[in-house]
Order: sequence, then structure tokens, then C-alpha cells
Amino acid sequence: MSTIQIKDRHFREYLSQDEIQARVDAIVQELSGKFSDKHPVFIVVLRGAFMFASDILKKFNHPCEIEFVRLTSYAGMQSTGKINITQPLKEEIVRGRDIIILEDIVDSGLTMDFFTKYIQSLEPASVTLVSFLFKPENLQKEVKIDITGFVIPELFVVGYGLDYDGEGRNLPAVYQLAL
Ligand code: IMP
Ligand code: MG
Repeated sequence: MSTIQIKDRHFREYLSQDEIQARVDAIVQELSGKFSDKHPVFIVVLRGAFMFASDILKKFNHPCEIEFVRLTSYAGMQSTGKINITQPLKEEIVRGRDIIILEDIVDSGLTMDFFTKYIQSLEPASVTLVSFLFKPENLQKEVKIDITGFVIPELFVVGYGLDYDGEGRNLPAVYQLAL
């Protein structure tokens, strides 16, 4: 089992590249079944979802548009609970459209509770939330995730887009904090 160090912490591999790619393929199949003739708008939540979104979108071979937002709430290993939109969305693209949100992880749920309400306020035709990871033990807000990549336990994870204090996003697998 491979172990890595990022800054002061040790992490061990938790989800391999092969496991992740197999799950990505299944998610793309599900999305293709629902949206192949719908011309959806994917909204990629930066920065954590960039790698997941890239893998999904390379395989989604149907007409679609792609937008990016940047939401921030975390400092180090803690959510601050206060959500900021630091890269805003082109709001006019949302109205009447089928929106597919691609997020890296739902933890407390505060970020996606805030963001899905914001998207709903822009009057889309539908909203589908796809989260690569879901940590249900820490949930503080009822967030409806339509498609979850993997449900994981409470431990902090890094890699495949997710960072620990700015590092580790480029790792192609997911690593879990080794206690
Ligand atoms: P929430 O608002 O608590 O649901 O957290 C949302 C954001 O916190 C996610 O989009 C991630 O960017 C970040 N986050 C939550 N848990 C982790 C983790 O285990 N590792 C890295 N980032 C995390
Ligand atoms: Mg995120």
C-alpha cells in the first residue's frame, strides 16, 4: 500500500486510479442515459472538481456547455462555514437549462446547500448534483446528491483534485490521512 507525505502529514492510498476510473465510467453512462439529447450545462466547482470534471467530460460525448465557478470555504483541514463565490458564474446561462453540478466532495454540506439554492434561484429547468465523494458523518445540511462517486468515512482525504493546504491536487489517486 503506497504512503506519501504532504507537508507535515502522512497519507495512504485509499482509492486507486483504476477504482476511480471505473466509477467515472459508470457515472458517465448514467449521465449519458439521462442527458444525451438535452444539451446540459455542466458547472464545474473549482478548484477541487477539476480532475473529476475533466475525466467525466472527456467521456461525455454529447452536446453540452461547460461553466466554472470557484467557491471557497476551507482553510487547512477545517471548513470555515462561510461560503464565498470567488469566480462568479455567467448567470444568464442557467435559466431554463438542465444544470449538472460537478463537485469534489460534500462534507458538512454547507457549500452545496448554499450553491444549489443559488442555482435554483436562477430558475434552471433541472439541477443534478454529482459529487465525486460524500462524507455523510459530518453532514450539517440536508443536501440531495443525485450521483455520488464514493461514500467515504470521516477522515481527511487528498488527491484527484482535493488538496491539503494547497498541495496534492495533482495526485491521480485518493489518499487518506494516516493517523
Ligand atoms: P463542505 O462545505 O463542508 O461540504 O465542504 C465542501 C468543500 O470542502 C469541498 O468542496 C472541498 O473543497 C473541501 N473539503 C471537504 N472535505 C475535504 C477533504 O477531506 N479533503 C480536502 N478538501 C475537503
Ligand atoms: Mg470543493
